[in-house]
Amino acid sequence: MLAISSFAMAGSINIVPIPTKVTIGEGIFNLQKDTRILIDENNKELNEIAQLLAKKFEFSAGFPVKIGVYKPRSKAKNVIVLTLESPDATLGKEGYTLDVSRKDVIIRSVSANGIFYGVQSLLQLLPADSGNADPKQKMYVIPVVSIKDMPRFNYRGLHLDVGRHLFPVDFIKKYINIMAMYKLNTFHWHLTEDQGWRIEIKKYPRLTQIGSTRKGTQIGKTDDVDSVPYSGFYTQEEAREIIAYAASKFITVIPEIEMPGHSVAALAAYPNLACTAGPFEVRTKWGVSDDICCAGNDSVFTFFQDVLTEILDIFPSAYIHIGGDEAPKTRWEKCPKCQARIKSEGLSNEAELQSYFIKRIERFLISKNRHLIGWDEILEGGLAPEATVMAWRGIQAGIDAATQGHDAIMTPVDYCYFDYYQGDPATEPDANGAKLTLKTVYSYNPIPPVLTAEQAKHIIGVQGNVWTEHVKTPEAVEYKAFPRAIALAELAWSQQENRNWDDFLNRMDYQFQRLDLAGVKYSKGSFTVDITTARNENRNQVVLSSETKDMEIRYSIDGSDPIPASLFYDKPFDLPNSVIVKAAVFKNGKIAGSINQREISVNKASGKPVTILKPYSFKYPGTGDQAMTDGLTGTNSYKSGWQGYEGCDMEYMVDLLKPIMISSVKLNFVKNPSDWVLFPYEVMFALSIDGKTWENLPPTKFDANSRSNRQTKAAENKIPETLARYIKVIGISPKTLPEWHDYKGEPCWIFADELIVE
Ligand code: ACM
Ligand code: ZN
Repeated sequence: MLAISSFAMAGSINIVPIPTKVTIGEGIFNLQKDTRILIDENNKELNEIAQLLAKKFEFSAGFPVKIGVYKPRSKAKNVIVLTLESPDATLGKEGYTLDVSRKDVIIRSVSANGIFYGVQSLLQLLPADSGNADPKQKMYVIPVVSIKDMPRFNYRGLHLDVGRHLFPVDFIKKYINIMAMYKLNTFHWHLTEDQGWRIEIKKYPRLTQIGSTRKGTQIGKTDDVDSVPYSGFYTQEEAREIIAYAASKFITVIPEIEMPGHSVAALAAYPNLACTAGPFEVRTKWGVSDDICCAGNDSVFTFFQDVLTEILDIFPSAYIHIGGDEAPKTRWEKCPKCQARIKSEGLSNEAELQSYFIKRIERFLISKNRHLIGWDEILEGGLAPEATVMAWRGIQAGIDAATQGHDAIMTPVDYCYFDYYQGDPATEPDANGAKLTLKTVYSYNPIPPVLTAEQAKHIIGVQGNVWTEHVKTPEAVEYKAFPRAIALAELAWSQQENRNWDDFLNRMDYQFQRLDLAGVKYSKGSFTVDITTARNENRNQVVLSSETKDMEIRYSIDGSDPIPASLFYDKPFDLPNSVIVKAAVFKNGKIAGSINQREISVNKASGKPVTILKPYSFKYPGTGDQAMTDGLTGTNSYKSGWQGYEGCDMEYMVDLLKPIMISSVKLNFVKNPSDWVLFPYEVMFALSIDGKTWENLPPTKFDANSRSNRQTKAAENKIPETLARYIKVIGISPKTLPEWHDYKGEPCWIFADELIVE
């Protein structure tokens, strides 16, 4: 008897990215021992796709599937047809139709690209465990269905930074495999950085002899650097291997060679490229370097043209990415050669000098029939005539490019930076930036609504970026990239009106099984519980939530790990005293993600109104005005619990609502100079019964400016029982980073949380 999977019976289609149009029929197509794959005669590309498909079937079904020639008018049964005959041309080069009947499967497209995507969709119609070498279900059933599909955007990118950390060729291939499963078509390979030059250039051997090795690496988010040399690069042969592999999956590899900034590794190898004499060392720390390539020195252009000449020989991509981001102008302002160039070219400032630099490189690329892509800083000082802008700092850069008639690729930090935290920063691995969950990625529409239809055509696509300062291993890359890159794939491929978060999550159930089988260590950040509080009648209640739906949240307040019998969360609840809340999402009696926990403080100030007297930074607001009394204590992440003040003092007042007896006031601070965070010099509490006359408690002095690794300290006054209604808190900030700091003179931060009054 035929074992029909429940999914086929339900007729649910779990394809991601969701196709343009799906019409579900009745019945199934059954893949059997005598099923054949038929392709157009003498079509090498289709043959390669058929081989891939046959190999997948053989791997899991355990029997070989024969490949034959398709004869358009034959009545062959029990066949899977891949053909360029009679396609729906309105679907474009990457579009396809996929028609499954009881007797055959036919995939049509105008090109092999579309056929490849049709095959990806076909594979997603199989039971999830068909990816297994030993599937439970040996018979494959495919639901009868008719699919018409085409991409929304031509450019569907995923990036990988191999400058900060690099990853083996085999892993890059795995990354490409997963991209292909979800119809991404562009791999942006970030090959050069301050911390390492990662591609062999034969004319300049020192780039890899010197530039591919740093003597140590910044440790986590501390200011320390280890003394373990970190080294590696890709040979040109390896790059060609990756490009060919990607091409077999209809993925273009775009190389990025950074200029004029993020080039310290190149300067270490060839110091004459800089404005000053050097010497330079390959950077061991993250961040942005003042040392960039000189724009006044013609040999710098010779160098980059030579490098690009080799790159163009290796990479056949129409686009070449030349970086262009984060190039401070401090050296150029002082450099006689740069200043002479500004004069001789009639430029008005250093921004225009950067524009000169990029335009000169663009002329070279255009002469070789290639197009330049640069990060959105290339807008400053005037865009190069044909440049495509990669908008990263925000969507405005994409709007600016499109309104100037230039193409743009959207990769704004708020939606597309997959190095950011994807769950509660308190429990996620070290990361850059803010919290960027799967749902937030999914919520993004790459076309800014302010654009006219004509301007919107310049938004050619969207990309996710995986920067690797805190990402050292292939597993860590997978954790950062997935599943967010799959949400990105859907917003890159699928029509906006077909996308729906709940439906996406339902389909992801099936996709997670496929990812498990592919050995992908994706994040389950969406299946963890956010533990937070809400103010209700001047007290804090605990609020638990997750991005998922139809799953139960269970929690404990006794320190135990949640189990299926733990307390069921249905509404915000009160806490009698300070506890650790632990919570998890449960599905079918099992924890779906991981357990999250949060220390919640209950004290005399909890939930009491706060008046802000000196504004905190909107970049690190904590939970906003009430952050200091919200019960959520500062965690190991600035993004969770803490409230930050940038370059200014802190001052606020809490109203306990009536005079009460108090005996202690306490507030925590965190210091980590490598993140520009210092202790305040001094913290003072003042008490008042009427809000008019104040009693100042003795100030707490901190060691504000010394070098140190991350540490936390409390300002605390224990006092004889005193009647007070109002408590004022004042923290005096050092305001700027000290003399010894890499970024001396820049504004420093102070971070505080949580006011505890007993
Ligand atoms: C960038 O993130 N610096 C492009
Ligand atoms: Zn210079």
